[in-house]
Amino acid sequence: MNSSAPIGVFDSGVGGLSVLHAIRAALPHEDLCYVADSGHVPYGTKTPEYLQQRSTALTEFLLTQGIKALVVACNTATVAAVKHLRSQYSIPIIAVEPGIKAAASITKTGAIGVIATAATLESFQFMSLIERFGSDIKILQQACPHLVKQVEDGDLTSPATRTIIQHYTEPLLAADIDALVLGCTHYPFLRPLIDEVVGSEVTIIDTGSAIARQVLKVLTGQNLLNPAPQPGQETFWTSGEIETAQSIFSTLWQQEVNVQRLPEPFR
Ligand code: DGL
Repeated sequence: MNSSAPIGVFDSGVGGLSVLHAIRAALPHEDLCYVADSGHVPYGTKTPEYLQQRSTALTEFLLTQGIKALVVACNTATVAAVKHLRSQYSIPIIAVEPGIKAAASITKTGAIGVIATAATLESFQFMSLIERFGSDIKILQQACPHLVKQVEDGDLTSPATRTIIQHYTEPLLAADIDALVLGCTHYPFLRPLIDEVVGSEVTIIDTGSAIARQVLKVLTGQNLLNPAPQPGQETFWTSGEIETAQSIFSTLWQQEVNVQRLPEPFR
């Protein structure tokens, strides 16, 4: 495998850009190829079979770009498809999971909250995280079906988005949580509002930088770090509408970017 090859990253939409930010910060010399499957968002309401099929199509596309490693920057795709992807492809595949362990280790009230998609919360993998780290604490779960759309629409700070966040976090705050796990990669883009709504007594757990550290560890272990001295480049694709993507990607990536349409067979 060529160490100067890019790293492929995908999500159901633009949420995985929160992970891409962390990867860029930890791995400044890597070229990064990002695909947003915004033509099929949300993943949170789809069947595992559908998500396996989409994850395979996106991986196949990223392989045409010559990627040396894959990051599944989506909790929902991870629970539905990462096992399947690992059985099909030999490149390193790094996936994400809600930071229950981190939250369990810092709680003082003995109650933590997890917000994620319904598909993530209902998964076997999530149940097993709860079994492993939740025996001595209370773990309150909340599916947030309306939040992904707010991020996909770039509606990050409006009163309507604030009301949705209040609605979802109210029962968790009433149960005296002092840590809140962001179990969906879209949610870090709502941090300013989430922070305001839950207040400073609640620690927010976002796994973006932990995933980036894992990518660094895996690439280092396999001698796959890009030795180039110059900064890496990012390339962006979407299966959704190009015009919408152009604007939301530029907002979330915090600079003007050029988004390409995912080629037909992979859409
Ligand atoms: N960003 C995703 C996650 O981490 C999926 C959101 C969705 O498409 O429902 O779970």
